[in-house]
Amino acid sequence: MKVLVVGSGAREHALAWKLAQSPLVESVCAAPGNAGTASHGENWTGVAVTASPTLVERSAAEKIGLAVIGPEAALAAGVSDALRAAGIPTFGPGRAGARLESSKAYAKQFMARNGIPTSRFRIAHDAKQALKHLNEWEWGGVVVKADGLASGKGVVVCDTSEEAAALVEGWYRDHRVPGGGATIVLEERLSGPEASVMVVTDGETAHMLAPACDYKRAGDADSGPNTGGMGGYSPASDVLDEQALARIRREVIDPALDGMRRDGIEYRGCLYAGLMMTERGPMVLEFNARFGDPETQVVLPRLETDLAELLLAAATGTLAQTKPPTFSKSACVGVVLTSVGYPGTSAPLVGLPDVETSAFWGTSTRRGSVVDSVGGRVLTVTALGESVADARIAAYEACSAYVGKLPAGVTLAFRRDIAARVKLE
Ligand code: AMP
Ligand code: GLY
Repeated sequence: MKVLVVGSGAREHALAWKLAQSPLVESVCAAPGNAGTASHGENWTGVAVTASPTLVERSAAEKIGLAVIGPEAALAAGVSDALRAAGIPTFGPGRAGARLESSKAYAKQFMARNGIPTSRFRIAHDAKQALKHLNEWEWGGVVVKADGLASGKGVVVCDTSEEAAALVEGWYRDHRVPGGGATIVLEERLSGPEASVMVVTDGETAHMLAPACDYKRAGDADSGPNTGGMGGYSPASDVLDEQALARIRREVIDPALDGMRRDGIEYRGCLYAGLMMTERGPMVLEFNARFGDPETQVVLPRLETDLAELLLAAATGTLAQTKPPTFSKSACVGVVLTSVGYPGTSAPLVGLPDVETSAFWGTSTRRGSVVDSVGGRVLTVTALGESVADARIAAYEACSAYVGKLPAGVTLAFRRDIAARVKLE
């Protein structure tokens, strides 16, 4: 079968790399793809991830047997609905299911309705409403979240309601609520370690993937702004044991899938729960309607079973007849190399050396033996090891080796403390 991966980031490179290992897969096309996906099949260069008509037409013409949707923008634009309507088995929820990610207000109301543990919250549609809620705030620190998609940049953690009030006043006054909407969610600030749990589901059956931890802040020791992800590791056994995972399945995943079904939404794809392990138990910080980035880059290298078989079963509603995936005992650590200045401004980088280690390219193109990157999150360098600590050493050695090969004048930034908190097991 021919598979299509929609997207152009390191997550999509990891998906294409793993899908290409399946005996079921002849080649993996990617739309628009990147320097890494180009090794596994044709890149549909110039095809935007939201271009439903083009994606449908070309998938039909090229007899795509499975489409796997990477980014949230494509899901929110209804690309899965369009592909499915054209009879193409598609992994990724339709626009209705994707609202779990594309609207934080919808997600919070969905969680409240379905008894899914999450922080207390208020929703506001304008400055007056927001300030009223903040005046009456009784729950300590406030996390302010823009409702719409903002690439991980629409969340600000505030120590006090006064700080939150100043922030939202500015957002509304200058019409710069991230994502461009007017709705915001004000949340009780929780504390505790975080972990990401992803499941593959056809809406009826769900198989859990190995848990992972990601690092969202730009700087070491979780300093600096939130980003799209600076690195991660799997398993997350320092945060989640088997018992906690079973609890998350019972209290979060199953009620979410039941809730979707009750709302008449057929959810076929990955459901991602971003969790905080609090004194009150696991609480959902966010749902994503897709594979996590960089979680995918550290979970897939550990996957022992056939990814194409798993995703095809979810896309065709036959997951109950497919064995749950298994993961190797080894650990994986991933470090994201970014352009300097990320997540603020970042310029393109040209003439980067290719990679020999298991590393996944962000948005980029191959030019002969070198790679041109658009900047931002340039490369996720990963390594496996017997323990997280071993994998960490190997990943950082690979990072040093790579930056040592960069041409003069080119610098890449990365955090030095990914997985450092995981002690020798
Ligand atoms: P989100 O995109 O909603 O997952 O938020 C991004 C990051 O902000 C999370 O990974 C947390 O580190 C932090 N965060 C989000 N919600 C909360 C909360 N209610 N309490 C404390 N931290 C939060
Ligand atoms: N790693 C968080 C995300 O994919 O949104």
